[in-house]
Amino acid sequence: MKAVILEEHGSTDSLLVKDIPDPICSKDQIIVKIKACSINHLDIFVRKGMPNHPIHLPIIPGGDGAGEVIEVGNDVSKDLLGKNVLIDPNIQLESGRIGIIGEDANGVLCEKIALSPSRIIELDDTVDLFKAACLPIAYGAAWRMLNTRGKIQAGEQVLILGASGGVGNAAIQIAKLNNCFIIAATSSKDNESKLYELGADIVINYTEEPDFHKIVRSITGDGVDIAINFTGGDSWVRSLKCMKPNGRILTCGATAGFNPKTDIRYIWRKELKIIGSNSWTREDIVSLVAELKKGTINPIIHEIIPFNEISKAHKIIESRNFFGKLVISI
Ligand SMILES: NC(=O)c1ccc[n+]([C@@H]2O[C@H](COP(=O)([O-])OP(=O)(O)OC[C@H]3O[C@@H](n4cnc5c(N)ncnc54)[C@H](OP(=O)(O)O)[C@@H]3O)[C@@H](O)[C@H]2O)c1
Repeated sequence: MKAVILEEHGSTDSLLVKDIPDPICSKDQIIVKIKACSINHLDIFVRKGMPNHPIHLPIIPGGDGAGEVIEVGNDVSKDLLGKNVLIDPNIQLESGRIGIIGEDANGVLCEKIALSPSRIIELDDTVDLFKAACLPIAYGAAWRMLNTRGKIQAGEQVLILGASGGVGNAAIQIAKLNNCFIIAATSSKDNESKLYELGADIVINYTEEPDFHKIVRSITGDGVDIAINFTGGDSWVRSLKCMKPNGRILTCGATAGFNPKTDIRYIWRKELKIIGSNSWTREDIVSLVAELKKGTINPIIHEIIPFNEISKAHKIIESRNFFGKLVISI
C-alpha cells in the first residue's frame, strides 16, 4: 500500500509517499481503508520536530482519519465489515500516558490501517467522511476546552484568537451552540467575512489592530468573560488585557510560541483563572458526530487535496492563508 513516511524532521520535502507492505489483521483487529484524513497544526509540529518531545522516526503521520472497515479478525464481529468509521486518535501508551497516532505511533496517512475495534466510532451512511475526519483532534480539543474545562455559559462574551483555523472554527461553532457573544480574531482580511458567516458577532484583525485589547474593551466595557488562546507568543499578554475581572483564559496549545512573555499583574489584579485543556474523551467525539448529523456542527473544509500532494496541505497551513480544515483524500 501507499503511505506517507516521515523519516527525518524538516521541510515539506521530508514527507515521502512510499510503497510499504499492507498491514496484517490479527484476530482481534480490523483493517480500515482510509478515505479521508484531516491535517492539523500538530502535523506541522511532528514534521518539524518539537523541543523536548522526541518523535520515533520513521513514522506514518496523521491523526484524524475516517474510512471503511474492509477486513475483520477471527475474534471480531463480521457485522463491522463494510461499515464507515471514524478513528479516535487517542491510544494508551505502554508508559500509561495517553498518546496520539501520527505522533506517538503510526497514523492514518496511508491506504490501510490495522487497529482494535475499540478505537473506532461507527458512522451511518448519511455522514460525510471528509467532514467526520475533521472532528477528533481540532473539534474534540475545542469541545473539551470550552464545555468540560471552561464550563462556558450562555450569554458569556468569548474572545477567540486563531479563529480561522481548525480549533478556532470549532470554538466559534461550540460557543455559538452555547449562545455566547463571540469576538473572533484573525490576521487575514479575506477571512473576516467568513468568520461572520460562521457565527462571530465581531471580528478583529489583530494584524491591523495590534492593540486589539482596546477594541475588545470598547465593545465589552469591562472585558470578556472567556479568552480562548491556543496561539501563545505575543498574543498572550494582549489576551490578559482583554479580560473582565474573574475571567477565564482557556488554552490547549501555543501555535506562535510556548514560552511567551507574560505580565502577571493582570492575573492577580483581575483574579483571572488560566485553565489548561488537553485532548478529548471518546464521549466528546461521539457528541460531535451527533452534532454533525444534526447539522449544528459543520466543519468548514478549505480544500480537499489528493494524497500524493500532502506537502501542498502543509504549505497551505504554514502560509496561514486558509479557512477551516485541509483534508486529504486517499
Ligand atoms: N492540546 C490538544 O489536545 C490540542 C488539540 C488540537 C490542537 N491543539 C493546538 O491548537 C493550536 C491550533 O491548532 P489547529 O490545528 O487549529 O491549527 P491551524 O488550523 O493551523 O490554525 C491555527 C490558526 O492560528 C492562527 N495563528 C496565529 N499565530 C500563528 C502563527 N504564528 N502560526 C500559525 N498560525 C497562527 C492562524 O490564523 P490567523 O493567521 O488568522 O491568525 C491559524 O488559522 C495548535 O497549537 C495545536 O497544537 C492542541
